[in-house]
Amino acid sequence: MIVVLISGRGSNLRALLDAGLPVSAVISNRADAEGLSLSAARGVTTRVVEHRRHATREAFDAALAAEIDRSAPRLIALAGFMRILTPGFAARYAGRLLNIHPSLLPAFPGLHTHERALAAGVKVHGCTVHFVTAELDHGPIVVQAAVPVLADDDAARLAARVLEQEHVVYPRAVRWFLDGRLDLRNAVVHVKGGDAQLVLPRR
Ligand code: GRF
Repeated sequence: MIVVLISGRGSNLRALLDAGLPVSAVISNRADAEGLSLSAARGVTTRVVEHRRHATREAFDAALAAEIDRSAPRLIALAGFMRILTPGFAARYAGRLLNIHPSLLPAFPGLHTHERALAAGVKVHGCTVHFVTAELDHGPIVVQAAVPVLADDDAARLAARVLEQEHVVYPRAVRWFLDGRLDLRNAVVHVKGGDAQLVLPRR
């Protein structure tokens, strides 16, 4: 039902599995991704498609798509997948490709979001689950969680506060998708039934 793409630690993958979501395969672009042993331990099919073995992004994405399509998933969930995907790949899976990004998009697309949030002096930070489009970290927003930025934060403390919320909102967004509750209109996502698409900090 769901194919999850990872590159590393796999804590968001763990959150999806812990939520009981039907993950049929996990694919990593790195053979040493920690998340692979986690998924294997949970009895989930794991596969590696190494980007280094492919000369171009197009060739890598074609190999990745071939692996994905073996599972015929309804949804592809990027969970710490650290490769930029080609426009062709985004188009192939349009409307069924989700990503989680550690910032309140459209602020801080790309890497090092927590360091950049601290450097910018923002007082609120967070994470975003969004549909993937050809433009990096810019697709329609499904759900966001906000966390405060505290005066004595460093990037690690802030990252940990955001990650805790990632593990809350990603399973929720995936469940909405599988339940057919996401309605994408004019690049804006609505949830049928009106569930909150914003998680605010606890007091
Ligand atoms: C998360 O912060 C996610 O938002 C970002 O990469 C990190 C992956 O962490 N895209 P993990 O591998 O899920 O632990």
